Amino acid sequence: MFWNFWVGLAAAMLSTGELAAAAAADASVYQDPETGFTFSQYAAAYNSNGASITFRIAVPSGVQSYTPYDAVLQVVAPNDVGWAGLAWGGSMISNPLMACWKGYSNNVLVSSRWAKSHTAPTAYTGSTYQVFRTGTKTNSTHWQFTAKCTGCTSYQGDSGGMRYLSAQGGNRLAFAYSPTKPSNPSSNTSSFGVHEVIGYWNHDFSSGANPSFTSLVSKLSA
Ligand SMILES: *[C@@H]1O[C@H](CO)[C@@H](O)[C@H](O)[C@H]1NC(C)=O
Ligand SMILES: *[C@@H]1O[C@H](CO)[C@@H](O)[C@H](O)[C@H]1NC(C)=O
Repeated sequence: MFWNFWVGLAAAMLSTGELAAAAAADASVYQDPETGFTFSQYAAAYNSNGASITFRIAVPSGVQSYTPYDAVLQVVAPNDVGWAGLAWGGSMISNPLMACWKGYSNNVLVSSRWAKSHTAPTAYTGSTYQVFRTGTKTNSTHWQFTAKCTGCTSYQGDSGGMRYLSAQGGNRLAFAYSPTKPSNPSSNTSSFGVHEVIGYWNHDFSSGANPSFTSLVSKLSA
C-alpha cells in the first residue's frame, strides 16, 4: 500500500544526504574464518546512530564478462532489523531482490523476490538461495546468514536483454531496511511492509574473488 512512496522516499533521502553513500564508496575486504571465503563487504548504515547491516559478497575468480556465475552472500544484521533487502541490480524494479529476516526459532529466512513496479515484491524463481549451516547463526545482538545464490548475478532486464553483474569490477547495489518483521516470519513467501530506509553503493566484486570458490561451496554443502 505504501510502496508507491518509494520514489518520494528515495528523493527525500538524496536531499537529506543518502545514508549509505555518505560513508565509504567502496567495499572493503573481509576474510571469514568460519566459511573460508574472502568477501568484499559493505556496511550499510540504516539509522542516524550509525547502526549498519553488513552485506558481504564472494565470487569465483576469473569469471569472464557477460557470463552467469554463482555468488555467495553473507548478511549480518542487528536484532532490531525486522527485514533487510538487497537489490542485485541496484533498483527496486526488474532485478533479483533478496529479503531476509529472523524467524521465530532463531533461524534466518532468505527469500527470493522480484518487483514489476513499486509494489510489494513477489516470489521469484529465477534466483535461488542455498543457505549454509556454517556462517548462519543468531546471538543476543545479531543474526546472520551465508548462502550461495544461483541466478542473482544475471537476469533478464526490462528491455528483454540479459544483464550481467561484473565479477571483476564494481556493481551498483541497493539495500532496504525495515524495523517491522514480515507478517509471517516463518514463511519465506510472507508479505512484508515497505522499507523505511534505502541506500545505494558501488560494490567492488573483484576484491571478493575466490580461487577456491567451488571447493569451499562443496565443503559447506556437505
Ligand atoms: C522458499 O524455500 C523453498 C524451499 O527451500 C524454495 O524452494 C523456494 O524457492 C523459496 N521461496 C522463495 C520465495 O525464496
Ligand atoms: C554476535 O554475532 C555477530 C554477527 O555474527 C558478531 O559480530 C558478534 O561478535 C556476536 N556477538 C557475540 C557476543 O558473540
